[in-house]
Amino acid sequence: MTTPASPAAAQPASDAVKQAALNAVNRYAGQKGNLLPVLHDIQHALGYIPDDAVPVLSEALQLSRAEIHGVITFYPHFHSKPMAPTVLEMCRAESCQAMGANNLIDHARQKLGCDFHETSQNGQVSLEPVYCLGLCAQSPAVMVNGQPHARVTPAKLDKLLGEGA
Ligand code: FES
Repeated sequence: MTTPASPAAAQPASDAVKQAALNAVNRYAGQKGNLLPVLHDIQHALGYIPDDAVPVLSEALQLSRAEIHGVITFYPHFHSKPMAPTVLEMCRAESCQAMGANNLIDHARQKLGCDFHETSQNGQVSLEPVYCLGLCAQSPAVMVNGQPHARVTPAKLDKLLGEGA
C-alpha cells in the first residue's frame, strides 16, 4: 500500500504554471477574497489547476496550501487534472433529478464507459457533475464545453457528443 501524496506536495512549479498563477494573482491584486477569481483565471488559462500552482498561490496570497487545496476540491467546477477535449457537465440538482437526470446520467455513464470525475474510455470526453445550471425550468440540463443545453434526452445527448464520444 502506498501513502497518498499530501495535497499539493512541494515541487517546483513549471514556468508556465508559475506564470499563469502569478498573472492571475496580479490581475486580482488587492481585492479581498480574490482566491476564487484567481482559481477561475488559472483554470481558464491552463484548462485545469495543476497541483504545483498551489504553493505559488500560497506564497503570493498568504494562504495555507491546505486552504487553497480545500477550495479547489470543494467546488466541482475546478479540476486538478487535465480534461478531455470535450467536457460534459451534467446537472445533478433537484429540478433536473425530478425531470429524469438520473436516467440521463446512467445513459452517459454507459455510453462513455466512465463515471463522474473520469474520462471516457477513448479519452475524448470528461464527465463532471454540476449542481444547477440555472436552467431548472428546462430540466434536465447539461453543459458541453461551457455551452448549456436544456431539456436533454438520451438521444439529444448522443447528438451533442457526436460520433467521437
Ligand atoms: S437543477 Fe438542473 S439546472 Fe437547476
